[in-house]
Amino acid sequence: MSSSPVIEAIREKLDIVDVVREYVPALKKAGRNHKAPCPFHNEKTPSFTVSPDKQIFYCFGCNEGGDMFTFVMKIEGLTFPEAARKLALKAGVEYGEERSHAMTEADRERLELKKLLTAAAEFYHKQLFSEAGEKARLYLGERRLNKATVERFGLGWAPHGGSALIDEMKAKGWSRDLAQKAGLISEREGGLVVDTFRGRIIFPIRNQAGETVAFGGRVLDPEAQPKYLNSPETILFSKRRTLYGIHAALPQIRKTGKLLLLEGYMDVIGAHQHGVDWAVAPLGTALTSEHAGFIGRYAKNTVVMFDDDRAGIQASVRAAEIFMEAGMYVRLANLGTGQDPDEFLNEYGRDAFEVKLEQASDPLEFRVNLFFKNRTTPPGSQEKAQAIALLLETVSKQPDEILKSEWVKTIASRFGVQEDSVLKQLKKAPEVRENKGRTAAAAPKEIPALERGIIQLLLRDPSFLEKASLLAPEDFSSPLARELFAALLVLDPAARPKAASALAAQFPESASLIMGLAVADIGEGGDAQNAVRAVRMLKRKASERRIKELKGAASMTPQQLEEYSRLMAELKSLAKDL
Ligand code: CTP
Ligand code: MN
Repeated sequence: MSSSPVIEAIREKLDIVDVVREYVPALKKAGRNHKAPCPFHNEKTPSFTVSPDKQIFYCFGCNEGGDMFTFVMKIEGLTFPEAARKLALKAGVEYGEERSHAMTEADRERLELKKLLTAAAEFYHKQLFSEAGEKARLYLGERRLNKATVERFGLGWAPHGGSALIDEMKAKGWSRDLAQKAGLISEREGGLVVDTFRGRIIFPIRNQAGETVAFGGRVLDPEAQPKYLNSPETILFSKRRTLYGIHAALPQIRKTGKLLLLEGYMDVIGAHQHGVDWAVAPLGTALTSEHAGFIGRYAKNTVVMFDDDRAGIQASVRAAEIFMEAGMYVRLANLGTGQDPDEFLNEYGRDAFEVKLEQASDPLEFRVNLFFKNRTTPPGSQEKAQAIALLLETVSKQPDEILKSEWVKTIASRFGVQEDSVLKQLKKAPEVRENKGRTAAAAPKEIPALERGIIQLLLRDPSFLEKASLLAPEDFSSPLARELFAALLVLDPAARPKAASALAAQFPESASLIMGLAVADIGEGGDAQNAVRAVRMLKRKASERRIKELKGAASMTPQQLEEYSRLMAELKSLAKDL
């Protein structure tokens, strides 16, 4: 994490509780912390915690955590310098002109890229309303998009030819190198450089904060290939993480916890035009676990509705399985008319569309319904067996045991077979690997309870380090606990009050675990006594472990022998004191 006198001045002037309260008015004092329902995921019981002592926040539900800068970055989707500027204003601290103090080289490049992409979006948008954009305007009209929608999504037109954007960038003084990094121009064989998007309707792809980070382009000419083209991956844009329409949809998703996942650009835009403004779409890739994780933070009620064709239905089942494996619940909807959502909305309107959304069913029911749809005669025994085998693939991916057993019941009753046989068949299905979402949430358990407790005590009050002087990093059996303890030992005493933030910055992968330990309530008082006991217990365990190791060795060197007798003596004295 960047730090500088300016950043430190902001930290001194502001209290994280006030910063958070501006976004989370429900924040209430609870013991030494403040609590509220988490702004980063949907929940009823508050697990979002702000610690004024540590000046950090942490959510026990979704594991988001950090300091006041991280909070503003996450909630507003800003970069560090952007968040710092905002907080500087609030603190009345002079921030200066995009000064280097808080900007890394990468931050600076991201900022430049965003400016360039915004300029490009403006250029494409202007082109749409120029003479060159006439055909494109006509096409958008045929697709029943109105002017307000075109403006809201910033649609544009990339002229044919191959140098329209290059010329514009040159005229405005942008470097070719930056344009290439932004994916706006591409190098052809022989070093010739051309516009990436040529003769395409342009869909700016915006991040959560509404900043343009990439483009999608659709051909007008039905013969041209590919139909849709996206910007390449850049430092601003990863398809695996981006959802089209997220910025437009986020306010509504935050308000209701509802999210509608559609298949493509036009579906999302059409949905928003009809007031279904909680719709987003992946970008021509299958839904990823990254998408699922992101969605899970905002929406507890997700409906997936892909095109009503074979490919769309298959893709929506796959998407549902990704959600399931992330430990999330989703429902699948189907229009049943063979139309795209966008076409359906234009023909039948929002109310009819919302009825379809209400009829959404869980992934298993969805598949069962598909099987029985358009069937006039009941299936024969073999057909049943085959269908059930396919359905069990979905069942076996369900990590929730309750739901799993409900699904077994559903299959048995819908197909008129014995529940017991379905269950037996399910047991035969290949085991599905552990789902990632849950193991991540359970990560704190990787450190044994005793070691976790000691690290926790130290994070809360690093002055316990004196009491822990008995301990060495090797006494911890968990590698992570060992590293954290070693880092605490060498922590500058001046940095002790901010131990949790300091360690989180040092171990970004374990940041949420560290924050979680630091803010967790472990009850008032008794800390000192507990700490001494915990330290002794750990020391004893470590000695026992080492003794066992030494005993296990074929023979002991004189030094080892000496160590052995020392450990035995120590163990005795530790046992006596307990
Ligand atoms: N897609 C893509 N590349 C293609 C075709 C599709 O990336 N060659 C992605 C796009 O994100 C598109 C989505 O898949 O929005 C859905 O594809 P499709 O159903 O073919 O497009 P539609 O949304 O129906 O497009 P349109 O209505 O504009 O024909
Ligand atoms: Mn489609």
